[in-house]
Amino acid sequence: MASLSPIATSTTNTTTAISATPNNPLFSKASQLSAYKTKPRHVPLKISCNAAKKDDQQNPNEQHVLDRRNMLLGLGGLYGAAATFGVAPASLAKPTAPAITQCSPDSEELPANVKVNCCPPMSNNILDFKPSNSSRITRIRPAAHLVDTKYLEKYHKAISLMKALPDSDPRSFTQQANVHCAYCNGAYHQVGFPKIDLQVHGSWLFFPFHRAYLYFYEKILGSLINDPTFAIPYWNWDHPDGMTLPAIFADPKSTLYDPVRDSVHTPMVALDLSYDGTDHDVPKDQQIKTNLTVMYRQMVSNAKNSGLFMGQPYRAGDTGSKPGSLETMPHGPVHIWVGKKTPNREDMGNFYSAARDPIFYAHHGNVDRMWSVWRTLGPKNKNFKDSDFLDSSFVFYDENAKAVRIRVRDVLDTKKLGYEYQPVDLPWLKSRPTPRRAKVKAVFNKVKDAVAAEPSTMDVPTVAFPKPLDKVIRTHLMRPQKSRTKRAKDDEEEVLVIEVESKAHEFSKFDVYVNDEDEYLTKENRVRTEYAGSFVNVPHKHKTGGKEHKMNTTLRFGLTDLIEDLGADDDEGIDVILVPRVGTESVVIKSVKIELD
Ligand code: C2O
Repeated sequence: MASLSPIATSTTNTTTAISATPNNPLFSKASQLSAYKTKPRHVPLKISCNAAKKDDQQNPNEQHVLDRRNMLLGLGGLYGAAATFGVAPASLAKPTAPAITQCSPDSEELPANVKVNCCPPMSNNILDFKPSNSSRITRIRPAAHLVDTKYLEKYHKAISLMKALPDSDPRSFTQQANVHCAYCNGAYHQVGFPKIDLQVHGSWLFFPFHRAYLYFYEKILGSLINDPTFAIPYWNWDHPDGMTLPAIFADPKSTLYDPVRDSVHTPMVALDLSYDGTDHDVPKDQQIKTNLTVMYRQMVSNAKNSGLFMGQPYRAGDTGSKPGSLETMPHGPVHIWVGKKTPNREDMGNFYSAARDPIFYAHHGNVDRMWSVWRTLGPKNKNFKDSDFLDSSFVFYDENAKAVRIRVRDVLDTKKLGYEYQPVDLPWLKSRPTPRRAKVKAVFNKVKDAVAAEPSTMDVPTVAFPKPLDKVIRTHLMRPQKSRTKRAKDDEEEVLVIEVESKAHEFSKFDVYVNDEDEYLTKENRVRTEYAGSFVNVPHKHKTGGKEHKMNTTLRFGLTDLIEDLGADDDEGIDVILVPRVGTESVVIKSVKIELD
């Protein structure tokens, strides 16, 4: 334990205290100072987080650049000089940070009159997290279905003590749950951008934010039971043995229980990693098989580089959702599967309430573990090196109830944070999906003149977008390049890019298939290569100024493996089929295209 950083001892010289009074801005770095207070804005910003709709004629990008310049000029010093010498503001650092001192409780009302205030208690002092130099592991996070009674006793005790803390204590269960709400329901704006929410979902912030969050949560639990080796469990949903609700969370008498769940989903029911809100009578072993191919797809074929797996860049001033493969699925469907359908899919199925369920932290334990696993799967599976990523920061309360600012660069290595995951098999690594027509095709290849029986894609028209997704959309897309060499494929991933407009507060999901026929666009067919992946929105809220909130999402699906497996390498184009599943009444497909990434 001695190897861990003394983050909470503000009296030692290893931590830096930063005053956070309104006149003395929160962050010490010039690039994160918020200067909008001293420099009046001439053009009011009217963009809220993820907002697709522009309320005025102004080009939002241009506006951000202007704001940025105002800000930077106001700062003088290095940044002022850079601006004076004509360095484009866009080339300056733009890491994101929450405006902690301006947390806004006036979150818009949810359906069924649910009102939320998720602002934490105020703190005058923010410490900088001090990373450890050592990689000594003191905490091993166990799989939730493999824990013994001794562990369970500790876990129960820790959670009970956390729940017993008064709500005003930032370490309390209520406040810990509110952390999640604050970072995804529009309580904080971005430092320097008072009209733009900080959103930790839908970008490269997704993995690091949740890792840091769990780190502090786990340390608090450990300190409450005086056991610095205590580690939270993970829900091993990528393994057949973990593909149900873990039993430890299902006992109504347990402190790990949450009554606000879908009661149909007991430890007896197979979890559906691609769940779309309705339960089908799928035999358990078939569900497991589908789940394993979902895992392979999201961890391997759809995860060939950092942007595809972790999500796309999110810099100060950015809006819009650009999630990575694992965040979309299974992360999203697992949230929805646990939550109660009415009124707003609470707790797990709506981000404002998700962390009120103790299972949330086990779910995210596995999400976090998947990040670690992905890093080991291939030479291109690297974390971003971009300083806007590394310097983005969050503020949490630690086990001594002190506020701590932690940067993304501090959480990239779990060993430096002192923990690892109990190792288990990864059966999905051998679950590459196979095409529906694979067998048939093999037979046809032997009989040459039977080739004509292969379905033709030539007659599928190319659809004009934007187009509402009120029914199945089928469109033909030309590929940037066909018959690519192995080397070209290794260098650049062929990616299907779909831009979507949807409502942030609604659960919506649609599936994406390639080169398939209508009768095969079923749930059962998700085990096949033709299924490229899904769009999934877990409901959440933003400050919307009273306007109905629309969000823009850019989805990216890796096509290289898929096209290879379909035997379509030499085809000029592919058919893309978008199949609405749930909540797509207000979904608009803005564009569909293929890019080389
Ligand atoms: Cu912050 Cu699983 O969501």
